[in-house]
Amino acid sequence: MAVTLTINGQSIEAAGGESLFDLAEAMSIDVPTSCRKQGKCKECLVEVVEGMDLLSALAEPERHLKGNFRLSCQACVAATDGHVRCHTMRRGHMVIERHAFGLPVGNQALKLDPAVTRDGDRILIDGVEVERSTGPILGIAMDLGTTTVVLRLVDLESGELIADTSFENPQRFGGSEVMSRIAYDTDHPGRLLMRTLAGYLTHAIEKFPVDPKSIYEMVVVGNSTMRDLFFRKSVYSIGQTPYQSITEIEMAEGKRTTTSLVQTGLQSLLPIHPKARVYGAPIISGHVGADAAACMLAVDLTHEERLVAVMDIGTNTELILGNKHRILAASCPAGPAFEGGAIACGMPALDGAIEEVAIADDGAVSLKVIGNVQPAGICGSGLVDAMSELLRTGRMNDMGRFEDDVQRVTLYHGERPGEDADVFLLESDVNELAQAKGANVAGLHAVFSSYGIDFDDIDVFYLAGGFGRHLNIEASKRIGLVPSLDSTKIVQAGNTAIEGATIALLSKAKRMELEELVKRVEHCRLETHPEFFNFFVEGCQFKPVEPIPCAK
Ligand code: FES
Repeated sequence: MAVTLTINGQSIEAAGGESLFDLAEAMSIDVPTSCRKQGKCKECLVEVVEGMDLLSALAEPERHLKGNFRLSCQACVAATDGHVRCHTMRRGHMVIERHAFGLPVGNQALKLDPAVTRDGDRILIDGVEVERSTGPILGIAMDLGTTTVVLRLVDLESGELIADTSFENPQRFGGSEVMSRIAYDTDHPGRLLMRTLAGYLTHAIEKFPVDPKSIYEMVVVGNSTMRDLFFRKSVYSIGQTPYQSITEIEMAEGKRTTTSLVQTGLQSLLPIHPKARVYGAPIISGHVGADAAACMLAVDLTHEERLVAVMDIGTNTELILGNKHRILAASCPAGPAFEGGAIACGMPALDGAIEEVAIADDGAVSLKVIGNVQPAGICGSGLVDAMSELLRTGRMNDMGRFEDDVQRVTLYHGERPGEDADVFLLESDVNELAQAKGANVAGLHAVFSSYGIDFDDIDVFYLAGGFGRHLNIEASKRIGLVPSLDSTKIVQAGNTAIEGATIALLSKAKRMELEELVKRVEHCRLETHPEFFNFFVEGCQFKPVEPIPCAK
């Protein structure tokens, strides 16, 4: 008898006593580490999805972990029979877009004006010498999402993209959404969340095909919690009403003039130049963070005459509405369901994820799978398709109930002997997705009604983010994830937050523009909107989102 261990889809037989790290190494699976199995770096995280009880008890270095997370160098196989399934926090190549799409032309003809410049062999940041070198001058733009981290490496002298990378945010061991991360950071002093992320960022930067010491500036965007955790600020106040970042509180008290943050490469615990400047873009207010601010820069709101909306669907959905004259912004706590979290067979947009689903009249299901491999789960765009098709073919009603009281709809029958390798959707999954959708729709109604306009008044509706880029628009309209707008008005723009961060990295003038822009935004506080709960209940139903009559 032996225990079968499956890590990142690869399997091995374990006699017992071996650590998960050793078994992963035997299969040539790359496990993040900086301490070589000493239990010190906390980077070798795995999420155990099956067979937790077949592993050794939690060891001392793992006391900070909860739920199904373990350190693979500490967790050993402690049984002689059964199946353990787990995955590392870097389980393969994530699909990322290299460029944004359909943005105004203004920013595409960006005038290079970086803060880091060269004078002979002197390298200067805002005119102050930081190094003597004739080597390249590079910078990093980072979108630090609750679920996903995206990095772009850019040549600051030519504006050229050199490399990019993306990985799951390893801070997920502290909870999948911002409120649980805040609670975790408050309960576990020692900045464990930041230190773990810094380890992953270090590995990512060291894999770039350049000398990390030639990286002199970094622009970081993310929601208020992710940004402040990165800069090792207390995030406690963001979790308590009135939900303010410590930088917002200090600004109101006259202790600072901007909510942006600056530290050195050394302070960031990253392998970039120690005197590099790491700039955290300003937040807007409350949970509406620097990622939303970067989106505004990317869509050139400062110069925009048309009425535009930006919706960046994620664990925290950002909403921006307006033009150069007036801007409203909100953040919706949608949770991780549309990024595959809290869904039985959910997974990020990695190889093996079902990304498209079609159901024929006879019930036959056809699938498109990322990487053209055997399906291992389903990602956000696949979930939207699946629900839309179940709705269209009458297999699910608009309350999210499956026909004939079934609890599970199988999308793919797996054929691994002795285990459930099916990919399926449970009614409880649909319920999670309904609530995530409800939060997004409630945010849309609250922002539009606060602005005093209907959906039809919009000239452009940008669907931002990697998820928004890959959505089937008709399916999204059918289930009521996006408003029932004329499709020609909807632009699937891709990751506008990383685009905005890149613009701020390449241009001091644009960075100043961003600092000014955030001061003009009105924060629409959803939690105090009188109709929010009604909007939410309405939004949980699977039916098209129609305008709510509003006072113009
Ligand atoms: S390898 Fe560093 S804690 Fe496990």
